[in-house]
Amino acid sequence: MSQFNYIKDIARYGLENDQSKLVDSLNELIEYSKNTKKLTFALQLQSILKDTVNKQPRTLTRVGGQDYYTKMDEREVGELIFEKLTSSYSFENLICSEDVKESLHFFMREHNSADMLLNYDLPVSNKILFHGPSGCGKTLASYVLAGELAKPMVVVNLGAIVSSKLGETSKNLAKVFRKATAEDSIIFIDEFDSLGKVRDYSQDHGEMKRVVNTILQLFDYLPSKSIVIAATNQSDMLDDALLRRFDLNIQFDLPDEKRILDLIELTLKNGKFSFDDKDKLPTIVKTAKGLSYYSVQKTLQTAIKRSIFENFSADITNLHAVISTDVWQQLLKEEKRP
Ligand SMILES: Nc1ncnc2c1ncn2[C@@H]1O[C@H](COP(=O)(O)OP(=O)(O)OP(=O)(O)O)[C@@H](O)[C@H]1O
Ligand SMILES: [Mg+2]
Repeated sequence: MSQFNYIKDIARYGLENDQSKLVDSLNELIEYSKNTKKLTFALQLQSILKDTVNKQPRTLTRVGGQDYYTKMDEREVGELIFEKLTSSYSFENLICSEDVKESLHFFMREHNSADMLLNYDLPVSNKILFHGPSGCGKTLASYVLAGELAKPMVVVNLGAIVSSKLGETSKNLAKVFRKATAEDSIIFIDEFDSLGKVRDYSQDHGEMKRVVNTILQLFDYLPSKSIVIAATNQSDMLDDALLRRFDLNIQFDLPDEKRILDLIELTLKNGKFSFDDKDKLPTIVKTAKGLSYYSVQKTLQTAIKRSIFENFSADITNLHAVISTDVWQQLLKEEKRP
């Protein structure tokens, strides 16, 4: 290929706004220029590329940051299949048992000491499965790991891949893995149980087997320093061979009374709200038991909003609102109704 062909590609991808192909073509031109002894030109191009990529992390969405939800809306449907993001979450955002926290800390430590472990010929744990009921922090925990390890994360929604790109599932997965490992991103496979659904969607019964085999292979050849996190609320839907591939299997449970209190504290940590009657809290916590972290937090936030709207001693100037415990209690009861 001549220099002009690379330039034509660059023009086309630039005009089509296809950033990933544009960057690929630029890299090819840089390589070509190095090989044809146009070293200064290659270095100049390389530094332009580096500067621009550093300045415009446009393909990255920061979870926990203010622009996250707007960015979510801007995504095109096709991109629903995978999204790349950075996270500003830390362990402070996650309420879990000491055991879970310790497992996550050890996992991070292994990753950070990978070279040392490999020198001892020890395997580095890099595949982790989060399972447990909905709304108990599986997705949140993946953001926390990405934030704590300061690594970008590619989120693969297996549910979306499986239902929309039937027949291409294996190819898509391989593509995502290749890209993510090359970019040193964490791969997060959400709705991992959707693999079981391939059977329902597909007329082709080989499809399910192919996808499972692809995942097994991708896992087996995963570089030691890459990380895969998978999450499911139906781990019983998963193939045994798949389950065995994970180095770590972490269960996220519904909150007990202590953790419900921790969640209340976390939700109210900005200091802008307080309860009208603290003595009612133990009864409220008992009512909340059996609900997920998500439901407890959601009803609390709704109670806060209703209390503000009902002008329940809301003090706009000092930005302080009093939460009606009765409203929250009522919402919790409604949430618990089947
Ligand atoms: N353990 C937790 N600690 C603190 N907040 C939590 C926890 N679990 C859930 N939440 C709150 O609920 C929201 C939803 O939780 P999350 O998305 O992590 O649930 P999930 O386990 O992935 O559920 P699903 O199986 O439905 O995907 C979180 O963004 C957070 O606000
Ligand atoms: Mg989730």
